[in-house]
Amino acid sequence: MLFLGIDLGTSSVKVSVVDGATGQCIASSHYPETEADILAPQTGWAEQSPELWWDYACQAILKCNATGTYNPKEVKAIGIAYQMHGLVLVDKDQNVLRNAIIWCDGRAVEIGNKAFDAIGEEKCLSHLLNSPGNFTASKLAWVKEHEPEIYSHIHKILLPGDFIAMKLTGETTTTVSALSEGIFWDFQRNDLSQDVMDYFGFNALLIPTLQPLFSSHGNLKESVAERLSLTPNIPVAYKAGDQPNNAFSLNVLNPGEVAATAGTSGVIYGVSDGLNYDKQSRINSFAHVNYESGKTRTGVLLCINGCGIFNRWMRAMIGANHSYESLNTEAQKIAAGSNGLFMLPFGNGAERMLNNKTVGAHFHNLDFNVHGTGHLVRAAQEGIAFAFRYGLDIMRENGMNPTIIRAGKANLFLSGVFAQSFVDATEVSVELYQTDGSIGAALGAGVGIGFYSNPEDAFASRKPLKTITPSRNSPHQSLYEDWKSLLEAQVKTTREIHSINV
Ligand code: XUL
Repeated sequence: MLFLGIDLGTSSVKVSVVDGATGQCIASSHYPETEADILAPQTGWAEQSPELWWDYACQAILKCNATGTYNPKEVKAIGIAYQMHGLVLVDKDQNVLRNAIIWCDGRAVEIGNKAFDAIGEEKCLSHLLNSPGNFTASKLAWVKEHEPEIYSHIHKILLPGDFIAMKLTGETTTTVSALSEGIFWDFQRNDLSQDVMDYFGFNALLIPTLQPLFSSHGNLKESVAERLSLTPNIPVAYKAGDQPNNAFSLNVLNPGEVAATAGTSGVIYGVSDGLNYDKQSRINSFAHVNYESGKTRTGVLLCINGCGIFNRWMRAMIGANHSYESLNTEAQKIAAGSNGLFMLPFGNGAERMLNNKTVGAHFHNLDFNVHGTGHLVRAAQEGIAFAFRYGLDIMRENGMNPTIIRAGKANLFLSGVFAQSFVDATEVSVELYQTDGSIGAALGAGVGIGFYSNPEDAFASRKPLKTITPSRNSPHQSLYEDWKSLLEAQVKTTREIHSINV
């Protein structure tokens, strides 16, 4: 039996078809070929077109079909993973009302801060596990305040994955995990947060029908099945945010297990059986894929907005005729520490681990007579690795102490320089697996239709490709201290520049 997984990322949509019996991926594709853009109509804003996402998803499915390695009619269920926290608005005819305000858009930071104060910090943290911050509910409040005409036409608000499921099935559904990532969920009451809904003045009818995450979220529409050569009426049987889905793809389901990704954003995600929160909301807790009332499984999530997007930007600036592989080879020729060149990678909006400050990316000590392409690439990847270390220390402060981190061999983990710098900076070994979010989403669909009896079953046979362990006598610990001093100075300056601007 075949399952199809869709991973709606920020830079592309990936699709995989997996054979349920063997758990093996038969075909994969992604669309578009070159990374999709993030639209920034104003500094600090980040938007994408949901209809374009849908077109990318269809193109990626057709591309996967075109490999000829499977019969699309044998696909029995579809799973979806998606970029988290975005806001999609549709009217009663399921038309999109405006571009999606995506996860790294910073326009709602102040709205979220005010809500945190007004609802009460203690109440927010103990019930929502987070400050409303810059998440979906705050984004919706921004639309309510600034675009009342659009707001008045909203029939349903959707997370990005809910939107793709709606396009496939015509149904609007959501999950506890999705509502928690949007900061609409009250973990104590196990219900929609009345505090958030009342404070912002949202009508509960805006929220789609709540469904278990591993369950049917509607059946494939005939017209869509025809366009994609799939069988009509097969279910969309799984929907999860890309980070919980990445953890699921790596069989990270039990308390203490930890996963990481280094895509456009960088994430460390640890599973907990408690309702934990960071007092400053620098790391966040959301319902994991296997969260149930009575069986608490939360994902404690550190997010770095400026991760792979920095590597991508570097490639674009250095010359697009370089492949990522050739840049990684150049970086490999340079010694750890990049001859004194340091970089702060925070050029993709407000960083949660830095108290939602927009610090920007920075180069330090660039010497025109010393540094070349390899130094630039290495310093960018080392800077990202140091950002992970900084965030992991916040997780450690909050009791999450990984001894091993699992990651898919994808995105920045394809770079030996990055992977080793990550391990040396964090002093935690990394196990790399041959998997990605679209494969996880396909397996999730298998769980959703009951082909696998539980999430663990879907991964029974997975073994790591390799384990990367900390190097002996690595200079990364002392380099990290230097990097951290630069960051702290920069954060201070950011505050000063900000207060000059306002
Ligand atoms: C996680 C987060 C990002 C997006 C990227 O909290 O905001 O990792 O999910 O797609």
